[in-house]
Amino acid sequence: MRGGTRKLTPRMTTVAFIGSGHIGGTVARLAVAAGYDVVLSNSRGPETLQELVDELGPKARAATAAEAAAAGDFVIVSVPLGAYRKVPVEPLAGKVVLDTNNYYPDRDGVFPELEAGSTTSSELLQEHLPSSRVVKVFNNIFYVHLRALPRPAGAADRSALAIAGDADAKAQVAAFLDAIGYDAVDAGTLADGWRYQPGTPAYGGLYAGDTENFWESPGVPTGAAAVQAKVDAAQR
Ligand SMILES: NC(=O)c1ccc[n+]([C@@H]2O[C@H](COP(=O)([O-])OP(=O)(O)OC[C@H]3O[C@@H](n4cnc5c(N)ncnc54)[C@H](OP(=O)(O)O)[C@@H]3O)[C@@H](O)[C@H]2O)c1
Repeated sequence: MRGGTRKLTPRMTTVAFIGSGHIGGTVARLAVAAGYDVVLSNSRGPETLQELVDELGPKARAATAAEAAAAGDFVIVSVPLGAYRKVPVEPLAGKVVLDTNNYYPDRDGVFPELEAGSTTSSELLQEHLPSSRVVKVFNNIFYVHLRALPRPAGAADRSALAIAGDADAKAQVAAFLDAIGYDAVDAGTLADGWRYQPGTPAYGGLYAGDTENFWESPGVPTGAAAVQAKVDAAQR
């Protein structure tokens, strides 16, 4: 993504996590590897995250969700969508919030507005966080592939991730992605995020390569042109 990318200096930036499971924990590992401090949280309490904190070392700590939200300069929300209304609101005001979430009715319960296609899951989170700026990212890559595919800037086999949201917030997210080993593909406004939600060509298999066995794929580098083509191929 070109343009006025705001740099997020790792040593000055704390990345916080509301939800530290498969995808949140993976982004936390990449963030620590890139030099960021991280604050992890979940629903059960900080003590249940000790193993991950120990693995990540001195740049990581665990807190309650409200404490993590307050501590983060940059906050990743990675909970089952059904829990999105429990995400703390006030401590996230004014912050860029990265939304990894997907809608799975069997897991999350039925949301009639999502069934009708009148809004998107990231727009629901944005409504819940009216003073934050939500960017949809990380939702369409399996955590195993996300962990396997970071590459240095300029590497021929660097992968890209789609981002949707407000322009300045996307520039900040693109800088974060660059620091953790990914390029960014601008997929439009938050309302355009349906283009890589479950059921679209850009969802799930995009980073698995040409395989019939998604779960066995170690992850296949997928550059910006391939991501853009799949995002553009989405149809309602
Ligand atoms: N798995 C993937 O590869 C993948 C990839 C892309 C996107 N996603 C999406 O990302 C989201 C998270 O998926 P996941 O696979 O990482 O799920 P997961 O492994 O089950 O982790 C969910 C995390 O959310 C926490 N959580 C649940 N309710 C919470 C609350 N009210 N406050 C704070 N934390 C809460 C859980 O904490 P407790 O364990 O303490 O309850 C856990 O740390 C989902 O929407 C999923 O569809 C997943």
